[in-house]
Amino acid sequence: MESEFQDGKEEVLQAWYMDDSEEDQRLPHHREPKEFVSLEKLKELGVVSWRLNNPDNYEVDEDLKKIREARGYSYTDICEVCPEKLPNYEAKIKSFFEEHLHTDEEIRYCLEGSGYFDLRDKNDQWIRVAVKKGGMIVLPAGIYHRFTLDSNNYIKAMRLFVGEPVWTPYNRPHDHLPARQEYLAAFGNEEVASHAVEAN
Ligand code: LAC
Ligand code: NI
Repeated sequence: MESEFQDGKEEVLQAWYMDDSEEDQRLPHHREPKEFVSLEKLKELGVVSWRLNNPDNYEVDEDLKKIREARGYSYTDICEVCPEKLPNYEAKIKSFFEEHLHTDEEIRYCLEGSGYFDLRDKNDQWIRVAVKKGGMIVLPAGIYHRFTLDSNNYIKAMRLFVGEPVWTPYNRPHDHLPARQEYLAAFGNEEVASHAVEAN
């Protein structure tokens, strides 16, 4: 499943290392020179992604159905991020951009518009993942991340979940949570992990 629906993915999903300027979060924040990150590389962080060809007809999309069945994504809803559609817009925008983790996967399928999912790599550097219409991304449980709109200021996304959804964000630091420990065991930096053991 992870290797399916990869055609033309670069057009709707692109990742790069961020600079550390405090400027407007909705700007791209490329480093100078730009440092792109391959979607293959993201897999090493546990991040899975696909490109689906039918975001306008998601109700009848057989490919989406296939992904949902393979991964047990029984729940879906649609979330639009704009002042008119999202209650408590300003507060939500702010909390989305607080670095946090979840105890389950964060699964988003971009149906319209675009946005940035920022996630930490193994060395705690920010990678910005730009997701456009047709891009679908899974952030693993326990990865530190955040979300922001880009300067187009609009995204309509499908949220998916296995079973009853739990959206609770645990703002950093929440390193003691089992989901965090399990994430580090599966995808953490082995070198850092082994040094930590030596230091004990
Ligand atoms: C979420 C995104 C904002 O938790 O990370 O919904
Ligand atoms: Ni989140």
